[in-house]
Amino acid sequence: MAYKIVTLFLLLTLSLPLNLQCTSSPNWIRGGYWHAHSELPIAEIHSALFSNLMCAFAFINSSTYNIFINSTSEQFFVNFTNTVKHRNPSVITLLSVWGGAIFSSMINQSSNRRSFIKSSIEMARFYRFHGLDLHGVLPDKCTNMTKLGTLFDEWRAEVTSESRKSGKSQLLLVMTSHHLPALESVSYPLDSMQRNLDWIHVLTFDYYLPTRDNFTEWLKRGFQAKKLVLGLPYHGYAWTLVNPDENPVGSPATGPAITIDGSVGYKFIKGFIRDYGYGAASVYNHSYVMNFFSAKTTWVNFDGVETIRSKVSFAKEKGLLGYHVFQLSNDDKWELSSAGMQLLITYQSKKF
Ligand SMILES: *[C@@H]1O[C@H](CO)[C@@H](O)[C@H](O)[C@H]1NC(C)=O
Ligand SMILES: *[C@@H]1O[C@H](CO)[C@@H](O)[C@H](O)[C@H]1NC(C)=O
Ligand SMILES: *[C@@H]1O[C@H](CO)[C@@H](O)[C@H](O)[C@H]1NC(C)=O
Ligand SMILES: *[C@@H]1O[C@H](CO)[C@@H](O)[C@H](O)[C@H]1NC(C)=O
Ligand SMILES: *[C@@H]1O[C@H](CO)[C@@H](O)[C@H](O)[C@H]1NC(C)=O
Ligand SMILES: *[C@@H]1O[C@H](CO)[C@@H](O)[C@H](O)[C@H]1NC(C)=O
Ligand SMILES: *[C@@H]1O[C@H](CO)[C@@H](O)[C@H](O)[C@H]1NC(C)=O
Repeated sequence: MAYKIVTLFLLLTLSLPLNLQCTSSPNWIRGGYWHAHSELPIAEIHSALFSNLMCAFAFINSSTYNIFINSTSEQFFVNFTNTVKHRNPSVITLLSVWGGAIFSSMINQSSNRRSFIKSSIEMARFYRFHGLDLHGVLPDKCTNMTKLGTLFDEWRAEVTSESRKSGKSQLLLVMTSHHLPALESVSYPLDSMQRNLDWIHVLTFDYYLPTRDNFTEWLKRGFQAKKLVLGLPYHGYAWTLVNPDENPVGSPATGPAITIDGSVGYKFIKGFIRDYGYGAASVYNHSYVMNFFSAKTTWVNFDGVETIRSKVSFAKEKGLLGYHVFQLSNDDKWELSSAGMQLLITYQSKKF
C-alpha cells in the first residue's frame, strides 16, 4: 500500500502575511536538549550557542512517585550545570523529567503529587539546575487534564514557597508539549499552564499528515505567544520511494527507509548525502520549508541550515519566546546551532 510522503510542516504558515511586530526581547530563548543516551560528551556541548540547556531525562518512581535519575546516567547529571557553564557562565540549565506511563496515577492523588513535587524541587536544587521541564505528557483520555492543571498550581505554589524559605530565586517551571494544544477533544489545561509555567516548549515536529492541525492552534486558542518556544528537530525522515524517478515533495512512498521509523539525525543525513550523493546536494524547498535529498529510492526530508533560518524567522516574527532544538548530538559540527544563533544576531542588528 503506497502512501504519500506527507511532510507538510506547520511552517507553511510562513507564506501567510506575517505579523511583523517583532518583540525585541533580550531574553530570547535558544534552548537545546542533551540526552543522556547520546554519545555527545557534556564537555563538548557548545554552550555559548544556547541560552538554555535541558538535561534529559529523570523518571518517576512507580511506587513512591519520587523522581529519580537512572544510576547509569547519574554521573553525567551530577556535573551537567558546572560543565556547561565553562563555555557560557550565564547558561540556564533545566532538569527534564519524563512523565511516562506512571504519570496519570501520579497526578491522580494529592499525596502522589506532593511526593513528585517535593522530590523534583529537591533534586533540581541538589544538582544545581535552574529549573524543571516536564516532558512526554500528551493531551489524552488516560490523563486527567483537570488534575494536570492542579499539579501545575501545586508545583508553582511549592516552588514559590521553597524560594521564600531558601532565599534562592524561584526554579523555572517548563513543560514540553505535543504540537497541538488538544487532541480528540482533550485539551491541555491551558489556563493553568499560562498561569503557572514560565514557558512551553512546543514539539513542532515528528508529524507528517498535512491535514493535521498545527502550531498556530496555540495562538488561536489565546495562548500567549511570549510563552511559546518553537521546536526544531535535528533529525529528519527517510522514505522509500515507489519510483526513483518521481521524487518531488509529496511523491508516493512505500514506507520508512534506513531506520525502523525512518528517523535519522542531521549528522547522519549529511554523511549519507556525502556517501550516496554523487555530488548532488540537498534541495531547499521554500514553500514546504524543508530540505530534501534523494538517491535512488531513498528520499530524505530534514531541517537543514535554510530550514532552521526560516523557522527561527517565523518564531521571531510571530513574537514567540524563542526556539529549542532536539537534540544536540545530532548536529553536525554545530552547523545548525550556529545558523539559528546567526539569524538571531542579524535580527538584533536590524533593529538598531
Ligand atoms: C522506587 O522506589 C522503591 C522504594 O524506595 C525502590 O525500592 C525502587 O528501587 C525504586 N525504583 C527505581 C527504579 O528507582
Ligand atoms: C537505565 O539505563 C540503562 C542503560 O541505558 C537501561 O538499560 C535501563 O533500562 C535504565 N533503567 C531505567 C530504570 O530507566
Ligand atoms: C565533577 O566535576 C568535578 C570538578 O570539575 C570533578 O572533580 C569530578 O570528578 C566530576 N565528577 C564526575 C562524576 O564527573
Ligand atoms: C484514580 O483514582 C481513582 C479513585 O481512587 C481510581 O478509580 C482510578 O483508577 C485512578 N486512576 C488512575 C489513572 O490511577
Ligand atoms: C478529573 O478530575 C476531576 C477533579 O478531580 C474530576 O472532577 C473529574 O471527574 C475527573 N475526570 C475524569 C474523566 O476522571
Ligand atoms: C495548519 O495551518 C495552515 C496554515 O495556517 C492552515 O491552512 C491549516 O488549516 C492548518 N491545519 C489545520 C488542520 O487546521
Ligand atoms: C517545492 O515542492 C513542490 C512540490 O514538489 C514544487 O511544486 C515546488 O516547485 C517546489 N518549490 C521549490 C522552490 O523547489
